[in-house]
Formats: sequence, C-alpha cells, structure tokens
Amino acid sequence: MTFQQIPMLGLARRIFRVLRGPNRLGEAPALAVSEAERRVLAVLDEARRSGNTYRNVPAVDGRTLRLLAEATGAQKVVEIGTSTGLSGMWLGLALMRTGGKLITFENDPGRAAVARAHFQRAGVDSLITIVEGDAHETISSLEGPIDLLFLDADKPGYADYLTRLLPPVTPGRLIHAHNMNLVQA
Ligand SMILES: C[S@@+](CC[C@H](N)C(=O)[O-])C[C@H]1O[C@@H](n2cnc3c(N)ncnc32)[C@H](O)[C@@H]1O
Repeated sequence: MTFQQIPMLGLARRIFRVLRGPNRLGEAPALAVSEAERRVLAVLDEARRSGNTYRNVPAVDGRTLRLLAEATGAQKVVEIGTSTGLSGMWLGLALMRTGGKLITFENDPGRAAVARAHFQRAGVDSLITIVEGDAHETISSLEGPIDLLFLDADKPGYADYLTRLLPPVTPGRLIHAHNMNLVQA
C-alpha cells in the first residue's frame, strides 16, 4: 500500500505540500472569516510578537494541525504537551467549526496557567480542557473515541503514550507526533 492509498495520510501529505510548498502559503498571515476567528488569531499574533516561546509549534505547524482537525471533522482531539496553548488555539479554530472539543495535558503549572489565560482571551476556553500533572499518569482518565491525537511532550515518552492511547484512537483517524512522522491508527 502506498502513502497515497491511506486516505488520512494522503490528506495530511497534501496539506503539508500546500502549506510548506514553494509558495510558502503556511507563512502568510492567517485571515479571519469571523469575529470569533479574529479574536483567536489576535491572541496567537500577540504571543508570537512577544518573542517568548515555550517550545510552541511554529505557525505553519499550527495551521497544519488546524487543517487536519477541520478537514477530518474531528470531534475529540487530545494533545499531550499544552505548553502555553499556541497549538491549542490553532486546534480551537478548527473545533469552532467542527463542534468538537480538545483535552490537553501539561505538567508545568506555570505554562498551564498561561495557556488557560490565552484560551479565555481567545474565546476558546469552553472548547478546551487542560489536565494538569504528569500525562503518563493523567491519561488513564481518557476515554475514547479519539479522532486526533497530537503528541508534543517528552519524546522518550511517546512510546508509552502510543501504547496506551491506541486504542482509544478511532481506527482510521490520525496520530500526529510533532517533529516525527504521521501514522494512521
Ligand atoms: C513542545 S512543548 C508543547 C508545545 C505546545 N504543543 C504548543 O505548540 O504550544 C512540550 C510541553 O510538554 C510538557 N511536558 C513534558 N513532559 C510532560 C509530561 N510527562 N506530562 C505532561 N506534560 C509534559 C512540557 O512542560 C512542555 O510545556
């Protein structure tokens, strides 16, 4: 079976090509189509301009996540590694459209507090639940089905997260491990 024959991977690959291709569309400013989107993008822009980075995804990766979640109509998204919530806000843009929810895990209380404030100011706090603590322990509270799993925390821990969360990731849905590769459940 080729990469293109796996529907979700084919979709992900096309999205990467569009955003990261020669036209560098992923680096162009994101345009809001509603007041709600404008609010989220303003908080993302402010966080970017502050120059403070807490290992957050770059905008092009955030946009990729958003497109993947939105294009697949994701209802339940799980993120391991909230940091200050930038990827969470990109996912929030998708979930405003799909009607879905994000559960995100973070073990640094300071970063979790900043993420919570970002989500409130961006107006996506009702879509996102932050679970604080060591995700290797707290993920035991997770229930499926999960439509999109985004791993972006301790890399040596990815094998543990995968072993324990596959299932409940729905067969045929996406697991995205940041700075690694995309696989289909
Ligand atoms: C790369 S950053 C996440 C960036 C975030 N996804 C974003 O783009 O805004 C990784 C985060 O995972 C958190 N982390 C690392 N190990 C963890 C664990 N065992 N449980 C929960 N969070 C963890 C770190 O504190 C850090 O904030």
